[in-house]
Amino acid sequence: MADKLFSDFQLGPFRLSSRIVMAPMTRSRAEGNLPNARMATYYGLRATAGLIITEGTAPSANGLGYSRIPGVYTAAQVAGWRDVTEAVHARGGRIFVQLMHTGRISHPLNMPAGARIVAPSAVAAAGQMWTDQEGLQPHPVPEALTAAEVQSTIGEFVAAARLAMEAGFDGVELHGANGYLIEQFLNPASNGRTDAYGGSIGNRSRFLLETAAQVAAAIGKEHVGIRLSPYGVYNDQPLYDAIDETYAYLAAELSRAGIAYLHLSTSADPEVQAPIRNLYATIREAFAGPIILCGNYDRDRAEAELQGGLADLVAFGRPFVANPDLPERLRTGAELAVPDHTTFFAGGDKGYLDYPVLEAQETY
Ligand SMILES: Cc1cc2nc3c(=O)[nH]c(=O)nc-3n(C[C@H](O)[C@H](O)[C@H](O)COP(=O)(O)O)c2cc1C
Repeated sequence: MADKLFSDFQLGPFRLSSRIVMAPMTRSRAEGNLPNARMATYYGLRATAGLIITEGTAPSANGLGYSRIPGVYTAAQVAGWRDVTEAVHARGGRIFVQLMHTGRISHPLNMPAGARIVAPSAVAAAGQMWTDQEGLQPHPVPEALTAAEVQSTIGEFVAAARLAMEAGFDGVELHGANGYLIEQFLNPASNGRTDAYGGSIGNRSRFLLETAAQVAAAIGKEHVGIRLSPYGVYNDQPLYDAIDETYAYLAAELSRAGIAYLHLSTSADPEVQAPIRNLYATIREAFAGPIILCGNYDRDRAEAELQGGLADLVAFGRPFVANPDLPERLRTGAELAVPDHTTFFAGGDKGYLDYPVLEAQETY
């Protein structure tokens, strides 16, 4: 029995129908960086999740590092997102938008004219990224943000959060994970600044904490969640000595800020499972609000995690791609469809809108 997974949960002002969260997943269907009817259908079909967190969404043109990802900084984007939030709310769901500024994980070919690739420091990420025009390309060297631009970039998050609320979202999730701009400030390998935003733990954390505080002041702290990925090395974020201290500090500060939730995306690397679990226990102690854990869960592992007490909610990513009605399938023990990873970012309806829901079960 998976009793806790299917019990409801009070997330600030929101009564969630279960502890099952749809994890944020970039799907690259936003042609022209605009949310569209196809996306409204996709999210609407998944409204039985206790909470949906959208794909990473740029708070400004500078944050648009990937092809065909959406933004939430223009009137047209707000209008497109309004159709998405209405589709989810009409079916009784809840939806937060993930604000993702890609920072140095970017390429000029993916960005609109006038946008700039910015980061804490002028250090390129190792590796390559996809461009529709020329396939895989190396990450370019980003421009280091000036002191004034650090402030204006925080301002972009605030403005985007306000627009997100206008578009009908229930809240925003700041993407502080997976090597994008916020984590680029946290990790000393990508942050060589010598001002108040680099160096010590407090300084590397400052961009995230100031962004969280200013966004919370703008839209209400109960509408602001944060995603972090301690021990994650994705997008060239190597491990460093002060990981535990950095995240313990962040958990305590974010607890004081009283945000809606902390969302931790776990690493699959077996080498770091022991330190990760230790750190999660530390974070649980330090952070008073709800915690979401994500990464490779199935129904039984999710239930065990909830029973173990480190998490209040569990997010599922890939299972939601192929199973729009995932909560119902988990509840009934129905077979899960397997997602086709070749269509994750491919554009179009294939692998996006063609995964069926189960036929309604007859009840006697
Ligand atoms: C297609 C795809 C796109 C993703 N895009 C994002 C994203 O935009 N933001 C984010 O924080 N994580 C993203 N992730 C990571 C997922 O949120 C999640 O952490 C990961 O898939 C592990 O969970 P799972 O094992 O349940 O799939 C993405 C994952 C996949 C498979």
